[in-house]
Amino acid sequence: MCGIIGYCGPRPAAEILVEGLKRLEYRGYDSAGICVRSGGALRVHKRKGKIKDLRAALPDRVDGELGIGHTRWATHGEVNDVNAHPHTDATGRIAIVHNGIIENYAALREKLAEEGYRFVSETDSEVIAHLLASLYDGDLERAVKQAVSLLKGTYGIVAMHADEPDRLVGARNGSPLVLGIGDEEMFLASDVTAIVAHTKQVVYLEDGEVVSITSADYHTTDLRDRPVDKKIEFISWELEEIEKEGYAHFMEKEILEQPESIRRAIQGRLDMEYATGHLGGLNMSRQELLNVERVKIIAAGTSFYAGLVGAYLLESVARIPATAELASELRYRNPVVERNTVYFAVSQSGETADTLYAMRELQRKGARVLGICNVVGSTIPRESDGGVYIHSGPEIAVASTKAFTSQLTAFYLFALMMARMRHMGIESGLSFIHDLEGVPALVSEVLSRRDALVPLARTYAGAGNFLFLGRGINYPVALEGALKLKEISYIHAEGYSAAEIKHGPIALINETTPSLFLVTDDGLRDKVISNMKEVKARAGKVIAIAVDGDDEVDRIADDTFFIPKTHELMYPFLMVVPLQLFAYYSAIELGRNVDQPRNLAKSVTVE
Ligand code: G6P
Repeated sequence: MCGIIGYCGPRPAAEILVEGLKRLEYRGYDSAGICVRSGGALRVHKRKGKIKDLRAALPDRVDGELGIGHTRWATHGEVNDVNAHPHTDATGRIAIVHNGIIENYAALREKLAEEGYRFVSETDSEVIAHLLASLYDGDLERAVKQAVSLLKGTYGIVAMHADEPDRLVGARNGSPLVLGIGDEEMFLASDVTAIVAHTKQVVYLEDGEVVSITSADYHTTDLRDRPVDKKIEFISWELEEIEKEGYAHFMEKEILEQPESIRRAIQGRLDMEYATGHLGGLNMSRQELLNVERVKIIAAGTSFYAGLVGAYLLESVARIPATAELASELRYRNPVVERNTVYFAVSQSGETADTLYAMRELQRKGARVLGICNVVGSTIPRESDGGVYIHSGPEIAVASTKAFTSQLTAFYLFALMMARMRHMGIESGLSFIHDLEGVPALVSEVLSRRDALVPLARTYAGAGNFLFLGRGINYPVALEGALKLKEISYIHAEGYSAAEIKHGPIALINETTPSLFLVTDDGLRDKVISNMKEVKARAGKVIAIAVDGDDEVDRIADDTFFIPKTHELMYPFLMVVPLQLFAYYSAIELGRNVDQPRNLAKSVTVE
């Protein structure tokens, strides 16, 4: 989703801005632009399309050491050059970039238009530039504070004025903004990936805060001009982690990283002496953990499917009633917050608006919400009551892969911990740990077989529809597999419980709608095999992901991909990897943009 970068320092700004925008590409966008102060005036260059189109449209030399840049993911107004950011006021002396949605823009626009301000775009954001022009009296910081006090909705904003050669002002409400402190230079960005190449010292802005920067200094205040003391934090990500390092795509790199990322999520979190999990960031006492009677999980997209696996696991391993729900739905249904219930907000980015607002709604009603997040310092972990960082490292491809398996890992550790505090004995605890610790090597084994998925993807890439079918703990994995295929190959795919096909989806079965079955060696295997036969009987093609040695499944299926044997609860880790790869190879076969699929955004910061 939209990205922001701002630069104030001695170096030529344009290159820093464009390079920063390039690093934000992964968030998903449809147009891009920069504004640089040069020769006392503001010069805006913006374009529909990719950063390379913007770069190609730039003059050979763009002078100026102060500037802002933006990648837009359209919400209000079509994708075109005019609607791209930065937006300026009519005089061209003020420029802004904005992430989020201004809900009262129509009323503000009408009022400003009556006062003679002429609008050129269809965006809600442009209103901010004119509002600033109407309030500016020689002090940009003051004008920004006054302007944002009049805005309703969400924003991360950076503004500049041609008369203030060494100043940028940023403000935040509901859309992230981070300050990067360099050596005689300062940065503002929506996401640390845009600035990690230049500095590792950052300050995260909170809602209602305004930051004013010069190349040498910065200060933060609230909207009523009261100073706010901010902690300087250090980014632990290395630049290499956000680069492809020879892989064709970030998605490929991230899929292949999973043995390591799962290992990292486990690291330091197992207590072998007591055969339990150890999650230091939960901020809950032993007694509070013992009092937990129910777990509820909220999330969106892939994180929601990880939550469904987590809920299954918590019930079966820890015997704690657990459910997962879409955050977007929970927020608006006036949820009942029960006593002794712990909520988890699961989010790779830690910024997903649906999850964040649902979390706030729960907290308002007195709930304790723990985060399971990847991006350190993002809003959900900062506002949650505690939680678990999954330490996957930056996930750049829009389609989430390694974050999913690490989110699962967090749930496995939590379930173990809760089980050991209840009915689970040391022996069972040790055996659970043994199985969990075995997962990274087994994922490596699955990855080593990946070439077998290439011809499979080729065979089925022409399908218009796909069904992904699983049962039990692998049912959410089927949902995730269907989502992956949809997201990056644009093949229509639905995930179902294999048991459900007879209640509807079987009507879709014919020679052109293949079904991909997840078949493990648990108590539900024979039932899944019956479902496979039902599909075969209707001329449907069947692909199976099955456990080594399952010849019966191999005989029924048209194509089989085998995964190694493990404990039945660990299969989600091994099952999801071939599904990620299947989607990946299918997308490549179809010539899709794997890392930045159309219309999708990595971090969805609007509702
Ligand atoms: C977007 C992304 C998905 C992701 C979902 C939730 O839709 O494209 O890949 O699963 O948001 O994101 P989160 O950062 O909260 O896990």
